[in-house]
Amino acid sequence: MDTKGDREMDSNKVIKVAMLGAGTVGGGVYKLLKMRQDEMYDKIGESLELKKILVKSIPETRKDVDPALLTEDFEDIINDEEVQIVIEVMGGIEPARTFILRAMNAGKSVVSANKDLIAVHGKELLDTAEQNHVDFLFEASCAGGIPIIRPLKQCLCGNHITEVMGIVNGTTNYILTKMEKEGMEFEEALANAKELGYAEADPTADIEGLDAGRKMAIMSSIAFHSRVTFGDVYTEGITKITSSDIRHAKAMDCTIKLLGIARDTEKGIEVRVHPTLIPTNHPLASVNDVFNAVFVHGDAVDDTMFYGRGAGEMPTASAIVGDVIDVARNIHCNCLARIGCTCYKNLPIKKMADIESKYFLRLLVKDYAGVLGNIATILGNHSVSFEKLIQTPVTDDVAEIVAITDIVSEDDFKQAMDELRGKSFIEEVSSIIRVYA
Ligand code: NDP
Ligand code: HSE
Repeated sequence: MDTKGDREMDSNKVIKVAMLGAGTVGGGVYKLLKMRQDEMYDKIGESLELKKILVKSIPETRKDVDPALLTEDFEDIINDEEVQIVIEVMGGIEPARTFILRAMNAGKSVVSANKDLIAVHGKELLDTAEQNHVDFLFEASCAGGIPIIRPLKQCLCGNHITEVMGIVNGTTNYILTKMEKEGMEFEEALANAKELGYAEADPTADIEGLDAGRKMAIMSSIAFHSRVTFGDVYTEGITKITSSDIRHAKAMDCTIKLLGIARDTEKGIEVRVHPTLIPTNHPLASVNDVFNAVFVHGDAVDDTMFYGRGAGEMPTASAIVGDVIDVARNIHCNCLARIGCTCYKNLPIKKMADIESKYFLRLLVKDYAGVLGNIATILGNHSVSFEKLIQTPVTDDVAEIVAITDIVSEDDFKQAMDELRGKSFIEEVSSIIRVYA
């Protein structure tokens, strides 16, 4: 036995860990724990041992995982009194929720990457952790390898945070990047993202903006100290974005990104995910491929930006192993449950109709005198005005209008578009995409 400061170091003491799941992320955690095994004693003051791994089906081929650790029965883990930390990387709501609650009720701390679960049942999970005086940490649930939960909960907790905004889904950022830079079609880029382990098992969650919405719910709850669940988040995915939209955005010195935007406003918390045009000189425009970036604005710190790999085996494992070491240190210092739920406010959620934005608009219109004037009048009656407008002939009779509006409320813009859609001189409303403002 030796000491490091006030800490007692005992190389005979071992903290035992079990893992639920050994897929993309679980495989990465397994590798990383093995790579750092010899350093755990120095990092924690005790050694760390991965004792059991739960999988659905043992016969599945698993690269490099010791088969002796595998079990198909959760009871093997919950009944093992030596296991003090459970890593949940199986995903989905059930049975993950029940397994996590049972683990915490049995006095085990839990580390999870499961944003689907936390974005809906976060309060129940954190309350259960507090009741049992254990840790429940979930750094990997938002933006993969980027440290963001801990900075929001700890490093920035002296601030009043007013905005959390960024690119928080690796799959869609990868797809949009491939479409823009390599002219790939959506399907081909999605297939590549699946192969690389970025996309969820069902990619609908990625491409429809649901995955990003879940991450925004979790980050908003922590940033604004008020519970935001997935159902509070407006989500719109990238499936309607075409190469034509990307080309036209480029012509206007903009690029298209799937942005998550959360703000603490006078009318309540605004939280949304949708494709967004941003100027090519905006820092987020150069966040490409699977990389994610999160901007946080606090009253004391001003602007901060967190950047890194938002998905994939090893970056996600980095976040999980960091949490595991944190819990192990807390076990070693006998200070579990130091930071629990931080939602001490009860703020309303702002209605989507009340948000304000600029809009990118692409229309095919009949090409005769007065059409542009009619469009401007209809939009103007609903407080919509243009910041930029380009008109190009498509055929002798049809022209394309590509425009960016000034800032207007979602409600006014919707009413203007509803009126415009009914007019005989409108051939097609090709695209409507919000513009960052
Ligand atoms: P995978 O589908 O690759 O792996 C899931 C694992 O869980 C598999 O080993 C599977 O067993 C096991 N499993 C699933 N259901 C059960 C069950 N009912 N009982 C026992 N075992 C079960 O998922 P990922 O590794 O990609 O994702 C895991 C979690 O991490 C998810 O919550 C995801 O949202 C999150 N996440 C993923 C990231 C990524 O880049 N992939 C990034 C950040 C978070 P078997 O092998 O037998 O099928
Ligand atoms: N499918 C997710 C993404 C994984 O692409 O960002 C990380 O949560």
